[in-house]
Amino acid sequence: MGQDKIAVSKYQRAGKLVNTGAKVGANYMKHYAKKLTGSKATKQDLEEENAKDDYSAFSELKGGPLKVAQMLSMGDQVLPKAYVDQFALAQNQVTPLSLPLVRKTFRKYFEKDPLQLFDEFSTEAVNAASIGQVHKGRKGKQEFAIKIQYPGVADSLQSDLRLIAPIATRFLGLKKKEVAPYFEEVERKLMEETDYRKELQNANEIISGCGNLEGIHFPEFDPQLSTDRIITMTWLKGLSLNDWLATDPSQEDRNRIGQLLWDFYQHQFHLLRVIHADPHPGNFIITPENELGVIDFGCIKHIPSDFYASYEKLMRSGQEQDSPELIDALFALELLHDGDSEKDQATIMGVFGSMFQLVGQPFYSETFDFSNDSFFEKIYSTGMALSKDSSYRNLSARGSRHFIYFNRTYFGLYQLLHQLKANIHTGQWTFIAA
Ligand SMILES: Nc1ncnc2c1ncn2[C@@H]1O[C@H](COP(=O)(O)OP(=O)(O)O)[C@@H](O)[C@H]1O
Ligand SMILES: [Mg+2]
Repeated sequence: MGQDKIAVSKYQRAGKLVNTGAKVGANYMKHYAKKLTGSKATKQDLEEENAKDDYSAFSELKGGPLKVAQMLSMGDQVLPKAYVDQFALAQNQVTPLSLPLVRKTFRKYFEKDPLQLFDEFSTEAVNAASIGQVHKGRKGKQEFAIKIQYPGVADSLQSDLRLIAPIATRFLGLKKKEVAPYFEEVERKLMEETDYRKELQNANEIISGCGNLEGIHFPEFDPQLSTDRIITMTWLKGLSLNDWLATDPSQEDRNRIGQLLWDFYQHQFHLLRVIHADPHPGNFIITPENELGVIDFGCIKHIPSDFYASYEKLMRSGQEQDSPELIDALFALELLHDGDSEKDQATIMGVFGSMFQLVGQPFYSETFDFSNDSFFEKIYSTGMALSKDSSYRNLSARGSRHFIYFNRTYFGLYQLLHQLKANIHTGQWTFIAA
């Protein structure tokens, strides 16, 4: 547990350097919190205080910000540890829907009671979802997971987001125009996540493209028993990734799961150009045969072909400092801007150079051992050094908006592989011409 937290914060810091888009949200949290407390306690105290205030401010807003808080706590942002703990709390403090309310929701959408549709239906939620809850049902021999959204979440989300964006912009002293694309990207994704019909579509898209990957399992969705607020799918038997890790699986099994994860993500990125963008341990279920089950398609990210092509260029030339190809790619990915001063350009090139060498390592070697703590330590210390560098901190918000969920996915994946201490084949995937 403590281990995970440390790993999370490492990623958060490392994330800042590459994840230029998401830098916005992270800084916002810090400044927003500072503004809220204004106290002069020790840094740790202050962070804890701040986190509490943020948490209560957020929980009053319900639904939307809860999801925002959850997203922030999942390691895709740079947040001090105190925030992470506080936000993690937010995920566990939602009052569950009562059975009568669940039944009412069913009658509203299907004109039937859950027990008319299932032979068995759990009276209580068996798992919490971020903006809903999951019940277990059974029809004949088949078990089902039924995710039901809390009422009012979707309606309040848009207005909550409208509330957050201007505050964020103001406290950060950001230029509205500069950050609008990032907020739009996140807002659109969050809104999508409240529409379970969209999730069903997402799932179909990924599953149909991954259907014959060996060792990977998906639930089967039931469109007849799914609406914008309820989603029904077959139950995947097994343990969540964290619970599985707690059973102390062998190195061989951890490597196998790690390899399945890596190949699943590479397959999606290179062949489907759409990725499951929420690689959280709760979204993977290890089957009794030690294979990989994948659930939760609420957040997927399409990879536009120009982003893919520029990213390919970056990976091809990233190790040659200052090559014209690299500079081209950095411009195309909006990491360099036409109006940049020479000093800004030099800063970006420097940051890019040092982080790329590190974070890109798995892609440039045949195999990679993700148990390697020194790899993560190095990312962490490089990140720390850079975050203290004022020329880096003063740069304008930049980077293609597609980086937000793309980087979130990669950092999540690295984090999972680190938790697995997996030693896997990484280098065999190559880019495919668009
Ligand atoms: N098909 C399924 N089989 C088994 N467990 C499931 C299934 N779907 C959801 N769950 C459980 O419910 C939890 C929440 O569902 P999930 O779809 O991940 O919700 P959210 O989008 O809010 O993260 C999961 O982490 C998992 O424990
Ligand atoms: Mg989930």
